[in-house]
Amino acid sequence: MTTSHPGQELILSSDQIQGRVQEIGRQITRDYQNKKLVLLGVLNGAFIFAADLCRAIVLDLEVDFIRVASYGASTVSSGAIRLLQEPGIDLAGKDVLLVEDIVDTGTTMAWLRDHFRQSPARSVRVCSLIDKKERRTVPVTVDYPGFDLDRGFLVGYGLDCAEQYRNLPAIYSLK
Ligand code: IMP
Ligand code: MG
Repeated sequence: MTTSHPGQELILSSDQIQGRVQEIGRQITRDYQNKKLVLLGVLNGAFIFAADLCRAIVLDLEVDFIRVASYGASTVSSGAIRLLQEPGIDLAGKDVLLVEDIVDTGTTMAWLRDHFRQSPARSVRVCSLIDKKERRTVPVTVDYPGFDLDRGFLVGYGLDCAEQYRNLPAIYSLK
């Protein structure tokens, strides 16, 4: 694997990502002692982050995935969100941690957070590898942010552009 690709600028190396994932895992491990943690990864973007994060948490936990559809241009989400895939496990009395790749405008995560706060889950918090805080149009607090970044359109480590680049171990900005 080369570390630079034509037309892409390296933003986060694999080592930087792995180091931060371990830190977040330790923080979640401390915060969720004696709780019933369910990691709910948002497909497809969060599949790699969720896979690494769950292995950095030293607790009994459950992992599941949801899939959302949003309507709008490819790099901008519109306000209309719906769940294409519901969690397959019972959330009643559980402590749900939504795991996202990127919270950008906040549209998707605000909708998800409100949706699961209306579920029988005991608590709902948000973890996102990347928090594009400055771009928020809908208020959402990321309880566990990986990196605070606003550096263009990012790909790699699960993040795609038209379904490409998800397999890159590092994160790049498309030029
Ligand atoms: P939001 O609803 O505007 O917060 O958009 C969040 C979703 O947009 C994320 O789950 C990503 O799938 C996608 N997204 C936002 N920014 C990027 C990016 O830089 N690269 C890849 N996907 C992105
Ligand atoms: Mg996504």
